[in-house]
Amino acid sequence: MEQQLEDLQKQANKELAEVSDASALEAWRVLYIGRKGKLPELLRGVKDLGDEEKRVIGKAANILKRTLEEAYSVKQESFIASAPNKLMKALPAGRQVQANEASVGHLHPITLTIERVQNIFAAMGFIIADGPEVEEARYNFDALNIPSDHPARGEGDTFMIDPKSVSGEQDVVLRTQTSPMQIRSVETMRLTPPFYVIAPGRVYLREKVDATHESTFYQFEGLGIGEDITIADFKGVIAAFFSTFFQKDVTVRLRPSYFPFVEPGFEVDMSCVFCAQKGCRVCKYTGWIEVMGAGMVHPNVLKNMNIDPTKYQGFAFGGAIDRLTMIRHGINDIRMFWSGDIRFLRQFSNCHSGPRAGIHVDAGSSPA
Ligand code: DAH
Repeated sequence: MEQQLEDLQKQANKELAEVSDASALEAWRVLYIGRKGKLPELLRGVKDLGDEEKRVIGKAANILKRTLEEAYSVKQESFIASAPNKLMKALPAGRQVQANEASVGHLHPITLTIERVQNIFAAMGFIIADGPEVEEARYNFDALNIPSDHPARGEGDTFMIDPKSVSGEQDVVLRTQTSPMQIRSVETMRLTPPFYVIAPGRVYLREKVDATHESTFYQFEGLGIGEDITIADFKGVIAAFFSTFFQKDVTVRLRPSYFPFVEPGFEVDMSCVFCAQKGCRVCKYTGWIEVMGAGMVHPNVLKNMNIDPTKYQGFAFGGAIDRLTMIRHGINDIRMFWSGDIRFLRQFSNCHSGPRAGIHVDAGSSPA
């Protein structure tokens, strides 16, 4: 009987190796390990054996049973894994993709940066807020102390939503910045100081598209309000952020600048992470890379948040996700992000942003 088991194993293995599709595999299963198959039939003979033989043969037969079942599932899995391959071959020429690449996707480089930014700020105690891309002009401009005659509000820079397509009197635009999330976050979450919010998202500008300008791009807005928050706090937070983001010791410098919703306002530069400030092409031989706009929140904006500017103060900042991604990965053309070029995107298949951390809040929705 031992010989019979051995023969059965040899025969089953030989035939399994020749199996090339799912129906042949099923036929093999029925023939060998199915209820009325050859192995169960052999096993039925075990009960007629003497005690010692029963023990030895019974054990060998059980091992064979498990071996064959395992061989069966391995074969079955190999069919499942190669199934997309067949599907891909059926696609029109030029659209063929390797099965192993098509079956497992990965995150877009912009998404990777967004998650990386969120995770770092979440670790510092910031709430992550999400908000609408179709935005009321009062959030995008008015509440941010941008007067109605400001040039940025014109059709030259801003995508306007046809008033006929929205109810009510309000002007509606595609948000030109993530800054409206400052007021929205405070309103929807009913935040009272101290609080820290980070709001990454997509924004739109009516720009001529070239290697460094897109009409659709991404920003992250930050807001920190409390009783005695100073520019030094901002500098510390933002140096910690960039140091963590680039995994290098980064220092920041502030240059005076103007944004209507902050006073004072500044441009933020970080020390070049590529040349240790010795000067290179990335920093244009200055040792510094311009990375965001920021400032201390304007009293009028605090009032629009229903926060008493005589008691509280804080910082706000806005950075470009696309630009950070380009700096980090050495990408020299912003248009690659929307190109849909799979050869570009595949280069990020091994990049990870770590597990999603922090508290995510949906802070408001588009006007209907
Ligand atoms: N919203 C500005 C822009 O799109 C960036 C910015 C500047 C955001 C200063 C801020 C800030 O919060 O304080 O250019």
